[in-house]
Amino acid sequence: MEQTQNEVISMPRIGDKAPAFKAVTTQGEIDFPKQYSGSWVILFSHPADFTPVCTSEFMTFAAMEEQFAKANCKLVGLSVDGLYSHIAWLRTIKEKIEYKGMKNVEVKFPLIEDITMEVAKTYGMIQPGESSTKAVRAVFYIDPKGIIRTIIYYPLSLGRNFDELYRVLIALQTADSFNIATPADWRPGDDVIVPPAGSCGVAKDRMEGKEEMTCYDWFFCTRKLPKETVLDKVLKK
Ligand code: BEZ
Repeated sequence: MEQTQNEVISMPRIGDKAPAFKAVTTQGEIDFPKQYSGSWVILFSHPADFTPVCTSEFMTFAAMEEQFAKANCKLVGLSVDGLYSHIAWLRTIKEKIEYKGMKNVEVKFPLIEDITMEVAKTYGMIQPGESSTKAVRAVFYIDPKGIIRTIIYYPLSLGRNFDELYRVLIALQTADSFNIATPADWRPGDDVIVPPAGSCGVAKDRMEGKEEMTCYDWFFCTRKLPKETVLDKVLKK
């Protein structure tokens, strides 16, 4: 933790235990990350209710909630607005907004009220160079053991790419399940890297002779991993 002008700024890192907190949300109180133990959870922040980029993102998150759930992943949103603002905004989205074919969109996942900014500051979501009164667009992937596995930050003006948010979740789970790493732009069905990055040199010796292996050099080997094998493992039936 860094201390500046009497204020504690913490920036959780990949591999850290997700900082614990209890909070009021649009779905009641939550005990985070304890109550999500056993499933993946994406904790994400948005700058403000009743703003356009955030509205487009919330509608997209809500439309994809089931898709994330099939990959054993729950969603939790946060902004530094209060509960009544959250409730009014989500009701407006459901009752009034039709956007890109999405309408009557009901946000069923919890949206945390954080008017004290306590949670946002603990998670490094307040980045004063961008805004000292609003959270940036942060995305924390937390695994079933409560460990932070990926962090992505976007500025206020940039709406998130939801294909990428979903791709990251599937790639993390695939790496865990098959003890592999995933190359640039990987998608299920593409070749994967063996062994995981960091154990250079082992792959070629270990896998020599296995027909599905392709080695570009001693430190860079891939193998096939069929899309159905990935999806059978990662997605709930
Ligand atoms: C938006 O979601 O549109 C937004 C929110 C805060 C600052 C700028 C844009």
